[in-house]
Amino acid sequence: MEIIHFSAECYPVAKVGGLGDVVGALPKYQNKLGHVAKVVMPAYNTKFLQQNEFEVVYDGWVRLGSNNLPVRILREKTNKLGFDLFLVHIAGLLDREKVYGYNDDTERFLAFQIASLDWIAQWEHKPNVIHCHDHHTGLIPFMIGNSHNYRHISYIPTVLTIHNAQYQGQFGWDKLHYLPAFDLRNSSKLDWSNSINPLASAIKCAWRVTTVSPSYLDEISYKANGLENLLAQERGKSFGILNGIDNEVWNPQQDSMLTKAFNIRTVESGKKANKEALCDVFNLAKDKPLYTFIGRLVGEKGADLLPDIFYNALQQSEGEINILVLGSGDPHVEDRLNEIKHHYPGRYNAYIGYNEALSHQIYAGADFLLMPSRVEPCGLNQMYALRYGTIPIVRRIGGLKDTVTDIGDGGFGICHDQTSIWDVGHAIGRAFDLYLDQKKVKEIRKFIMTLDHSWDRAAQQYIDLYQM
Ligand code: ADP
Ligand code: GLC
Repeated sequence: MEIIHFSAECYPVAKVGGLGDVVGALPKYQNKLGHVAKVVMPAYNTKFLQQNEFEVVYDGWVRLGSNNLPVRILREKTNKLGFDLFLVHIAGLLDREKVYGYNDDTERFLAFQIASLDWIAQWEHKPNVIHCHDHHTGLIPFMIGNSHNYRHISYIPTVLTIHNAQYQGQFGWDKLHYLPAFDLRNSSKLDWSNSINPLASAIKCAWRVTTVSPSYLDEISYKANGLENLLAQERGKSFGILNGIDNEVWNPQQDSMLTKAFNIRTVESGKKANKEALCDVFNLAKDKPLYTFIGRLVGEKGADLLPDIFYNALQQSEGEINILVLGSGDPHVEDRLNEIKHHYPGRYNAYIGYNEALSHQIYAGADFLLMPSRVEPCGLNQMYALRYGTIPIVRRIGGLKDTVTDIGDGGFGICHDQTSIWDVGHAIGRAFDLYLDQKKVKEIRKFIMTLDHSWDRAAQQYIDLYQM
């Protein structure tokens, strides 16, 4: 089959979070299964664009309201990512340093979607499936099915994967004129709560909808930032497919970002070397359990509670634990996380910012990884932690529930029910007790490193879905 993935992120070209990891891996694994999967994304002004070679495959124009903007589509020449990568270049609109966060994001992603479809509509050999990821590509199913411009490709089935239903990309009806002409009687397919809502529109118009874990599919029929009724209504065409991880990128045995690579046999000495290196850099004691958090500092991840959780844990453990944070997001949370450094030097540290290499070093060197998420559609961090022998401490929600079992239930992690200071504090205490039983910790580390969360399985599940 030939599958085209449309996405705002794709690792290593541009990544903000897990969406990038998924779109950088799923197509590669689909190709390994003998299919042809390609990725189409905006050409941001990233290092990847500057440092790699591209050929021009299309020169044209995109119409956005009354503006005509020049479009150039570039193909990465070497196929080194394991799939064909196409970057849509629209000068002044897409070629910026950040992926999101601009006032004109609506126009940027609209132009991206329209330009991409204009191009694909001209292909002689049409793809079998168009696979859209999140709201940035959510108007594609509507446009393909309803705009006269795309009548030649309107038969191609579209799949929407919801990575996160919190973000929907809504905008006002005053921007309707940006969309290519369609029969206005179909406007309701764009509408949700009196706005044009790209995620809602994709849920209505896509042939199939998927979520990134089975539990998240159940949860969003009850709570999905206003879309719960729509999701419950469209449940019949919706499927939960648990994300995988890219075992080539996340492989402790061949990870050049680590201080020392390791495998199941050498896990103890390997983790020790990585932990000691981290402790040197961040001025932490090497002989204490190292608890960590990696992620976006937003409410969904429970980040607003982290400062108080850490103050309590540091005070109550009387110097017996260390904490290291890597993250960025809400400036107030960032400031509070920075402040703790002054109160607990030598026992706590935080790197506020984004650092891919450091994330690998932390998964490798940590003893425990905290994920007290309020919402977690899948979560990849816990799976990276498992692969690097780090024990996850997670809230039982979404994909965390689907991937981590508590030690009390014969499992290998520490699970708690609520995102509350009390629940997480209790879980940190349980982890400390576990740490004192080093024989058990060593057993768990070896076991979790054998768990197979590779994309092989999920890539096939998507193929089965396309062929249903
Ligand atoms: P989400 O997509 O909701 O942010 P996921 O768990 O799916 O959560 O994926 C997060 C991804 O982003 C992981 O690859 C994680 O290592 C990475 N990540 C998050 N914050 C940072 C950071 N500050 N520095 C480096 N990597 C980060
Ligand atoms: C989203 C979700 C996260 C998921 C990721 C990849 O960012 O918040 O839980 O792992 O997408 O699907």
